[in-house]
Amino acid sequence: MVNPFFEASTGSFCYIVANPESRCCAIIDAPLGLGCGDTVVNTHTADAMLDWIHAHEFVARWILETHVHADRPSAAGYLKSHLLCAKTAIGDGVPNLQGYDQLLGDGEKICLGHTHGRVIATPGHTPGCVSYQFDNAVFVGDTLFMPDTGTARCDFPGGSPILLYKSIEKLLSLPDCTRLYVCHDYPGDRRRNRCVTTVAEQKLANIHWRATTCADSFAALRSQRDRTLAPPRWQAISIPANLQCKDIGEIQVLLTQTMNE
Ligand SMILES: [Fe+2]
Repeated sequence: MVNPFFEASTGSFCYIVANPESRCCAIIDAPLGLGCGDTVVNTHTADAMLDWIHAHEFVARWILETHVHADRPSAAGYLKSHLLCAKTAIGDGVPNLQGYDQLLGDGEKICLGHTHGRVIATPGHTPGCVSYQFDNAVFVGDTLFMPDTGTARCDFPGGSPILLYKSIEKLLSLPDCTRLYVCHDYPGDRRRNRCVTTVAEQKLANIHWRATTCADSFAALRSQRDRTLAPPRWQAISIPANLQCKDIGEIQVLLTQTMNE
């Protein structure tokens, strides 16, 4: 079972994947909150996840990150201090990662009681991006967005639109009914936020990625779009904090330093 949570200040979706038989669960991409004029990071969404886990009597085994988020600090360090049975983990494709309990490679298993998920390397947005598959659900991080908003940017350090093209090809080779859970949705005023789509829906309607589009054409379109995007507001805090799985106290110090510069 999949339980989505939405962190409004950074527009981020995050998830709890729970196995009702074993009572084990995994947390994916939990953010700290940080509004425009905020001087203090908040734990509203992470606390809602903790409340859900306790109320439903699950044991968290994993605190997973799909990548080093550039747009908001992760709540992984904060959650780890509250969930003593859980391991923090992230894909192993980025140098200088520190503080995580485990670095995960392509194909690695994620044990969740009697079942397991698997890691799918999906670089492009960043070199270390991974997706997590549990049964028919895949948590795709920043790769695909909803079909009408296309794909994730590739202009962060080590990003590559060619690699993103190949990663999307890999995701869309899964069965059509596979559910794809995204990290962000940017619908503007057109519709409500959505967090889940399917392989079939993406193959039919993604505005950036088509099976008939070659990698070079996709890369040209993606790079052109990336040149129009501003850097994320909290990049200077988020990248160092998330490379090192920092706890909330250290992240607050980083925020204070940044605001005083
Ligand atoms: Fe991202």
